[in-house]
Amino acid sequence: MDTPLLKKLWEDKYQIVPEQFQKIKQVDAVATGFNANIDAVYHMSAQKLKELIEQQSLSLEELKNLERTSILDEKDFLKGVFRSFSLGIAEEWICENEKVYQWLQKNIGYMHLQIGGQGGIMANVLSVLGVKKVFVHTNSLPALQAEQFEKRDNLLSFDQNGHIQPAYLIDRSQDLPLIHWIIEFKRGDIIELEGQKFKCPKANRFIATYDPLNLRLVLDQNFMKAMLQTPLNFVILSGFHALLSSNNGVELIEGIVPKILELKQKNPSAIFHLEVASTQDISIRKAIVQKLIPLMDSIGINDRETIDLLFALGEKSLAKRCDEKTTAESLLKGLSKIKEKTGVKRIELHMFGLYLTLQDKNFHITPEKNLNAMLTASVVAASKAKTGSVEFENIQQVKYDVSDVGLIEIDSLGLLLGQSELITSGIGRYRSWDLIVVPTILIENPLSLVGMGDTISSVSLVAAR
Ligand code: GLC
Repeated sequence: MDTPLLKKLWEDKYQIVPEQFQKIKQVDAVATGFNANIDAVYHMSAQKLKELIEQQSLSLEELKNLERTSILDEKDFLKGVFRSFSLGIAEEWICENEKVYQWLQKNIGYMHLQIGGQGGIMANVLSVLGVKKVFVHTNSLPALQAEQFEKRDNLLSFDQNGHIQPAYLIDRSQDLPLIHWIIEFKRGDIIELEGQKFKCPKANRFIATYDPLNLRLVLDQNFMKAMLQTPLNFVILSGFHALLSSNNGVELIEGIVPKILELKQKNPSAIFHLEVASTQDISIRKAIVQKLIPLMDSIGINDRETIDLLFALGEKSLAKRCDEKTTAESLLKGLSKIKEKTGVKRIELHMFGLYLTLQDKNFHITPEKNLNAMLTASVVAASKAKTGSVEFENIQQVKYDVSDVGLIEIDSLGLLLGQSELITSGIGRYRSWDLIVVPTILIENPLSLVGMGDTISSVSLVAAR
């Protein structure tokens, strides 16, 4: 079938989406944790990056010489930005030095503030889509953080006295504002250094995180206690990626395991999902993959994170293959290895142009429902990419313009698997599992990309009805 016909076929499938929005409103309760923070967004031009590099007298050789993937000084920050810019990749590096944080404030500043952290972003999205109650974990909630939450009464958190309230109304004034720098770049921007040109191949972002609370997995006991007494349909967790082994991160992960198990015991029918995020510390990554993922029903992941997890699982050659050839086919092999080794029942991958879910045959969510939810997520994500935020009025305006890249990838995946119908149905098989694929909606010039994966994963899960 030729591309225009395939596009039409998928546009027709996308017509189901408005119906799914009605169904999301029937979801009673979702809890998101553990990381919510404030994102300070800055759109970095190549020109500004060049100025900063020159200001720090960094040679090209130094810039490319990565000694670590964390931030101890301003130079590390610029190395990280340059790496993400020139490779077009998303990364997050941890900064433990308050001085660098002050340097960022003084030398870069930000264009605007918005909700950050997987837990925070997902809570905002799900509240906009009308889940009846969304409980968001916050380990810091001063007014500046509270203002980043949707002004909606279905989005709840806890004040300093442990009283549940709409999150936007809370002001735990003694709490420290946790601000992460989100440096976004545009595709095609060119930086010239020492006579060499580097072109940003893909719009993306680099995150510099200074966050003493999320870095230590500080928990709000009021939230933890209340969730044990609240019937929940979904528990969506993340934030472990910011831990460091040098700060007891592995022990903190081990310490959370019994708490998650207790929550599971109280909510046996809830779906537990972990959003995997860019985790630089290899011991933390190993702890996530060995100790947390096996407890989950579902995980959400992007292409880079797939490669990272494969390294953490000791699957070096598969990781390298995925890195060299980041196609749906090689990533599917990677996901299958992660699934086999961790026993997680559902994995959802989001990558440029398509989403792919691999799940157990008898999983609570049928492949058809998954497909509809993934289509819904694609519409919400397209709206966010276009406008920079998630608002229902904008979501309704999205034109179902299906990505060629996604269609081509799915078509070749189907042929390689000997399942030529994959491209038309979106549902197939891989080993003993169900495989569900969706070409996404294309947005030519995204305004913002941060939080896209979180949006996709949460909607793909909660809209599956
Ligand atoms: C990470 C970052 C946070 C950002 C989020 C987006 O959690 O720490 O700042 O909002 O990723 O996915």
